[in-house]
Amino acid sequence: MNSPAFDSTPLTIREMSIDDIAPVFHLGESLFTSDRYPSLYRVWDEWEVTGLFNTEPEYSLIAEITGQLAGFVLGSMISKPSVTYGYIIWLGVNPQMQRCGIADRLVDRLTERMITDGVRFMLMDTDPANTAAVNFFRRKGYGNERQHMFFSLDLAEHDYYGKLIDYERDRRDRR
Ligand SMILES: CC(C)(COP(=O)(O)OP(=O)(O)OC[C@H]1O[C@@H](n2cnc3c(N)ncnc32)[C@H](O)[C@@H]1OP(=O)(O)O)[C@@H](O)C(=O)NCCC(=O)NCCS
Repeated sequence: MNSPAFDSTPLTIREMSIDDIAPVFHLGESLFTSDRYPSLYRVWDEWEVTGLFNTEPEYSLIAEITGQLAGFVLGSMISKPSVTYGYIIWLGVNPQMQRCGIADRLVDRLTERMITDGVRFMLMDTDPANTAAVNFFRRKGYGNERQHMFFSLDLAEHDYYGKLIDYERDRRDRR
């Protein structure tokens, strides 16, 4: 690690356990905030953590320093007939411990595991405004970047769906 604060402190990378679920969820909540990363904020919830822990525990890794959660990576393997992809779905590091190489170690460990399991191509996506993540993945050698459009719709403001929402509310109120 690069930071003097952690130079002599051992960093452990291990598979997530049941006791890590809540701390990982709360660290994610503190990172994926609506003001900084609105698209990540919308989809981060406890089911993301429990679901991936349940289905792919071997790709749900945490980093800890003297027993304290420092970061996590949650990945998934996608098998297609011609190629097997490794997808980095979530990656987060405690803000007090960032820029010390923790994400680097987490991604390396995940990638090593995935290679062993047959992965030959890694995928990752993030908001183009997420400079930390964009720089991080470029530095790790990720490229072939494509812009991705994220649409949203406030249903209550829509001509037809808004009326449907009013209708459903009235129907519930009449019960
Ligand atoms: C992206 C993130 C995981 C990087 O974790 P990290 O442990 O700080 O990363 P590392 O120390 O291993 O790598 C550092 C490199 O990442 C990039 N980087 C990290 N933070 C950065 C920042 N604030 N600004 C610019 N580049 C940054 C740089 O390339 C940096 O190398 P440098 O220090 O030589 O410039 C961390 O910033 C984070 O948790 N962000 C919030 C959650 C998030 O956006 N996750 C990704 C999408 S799921």
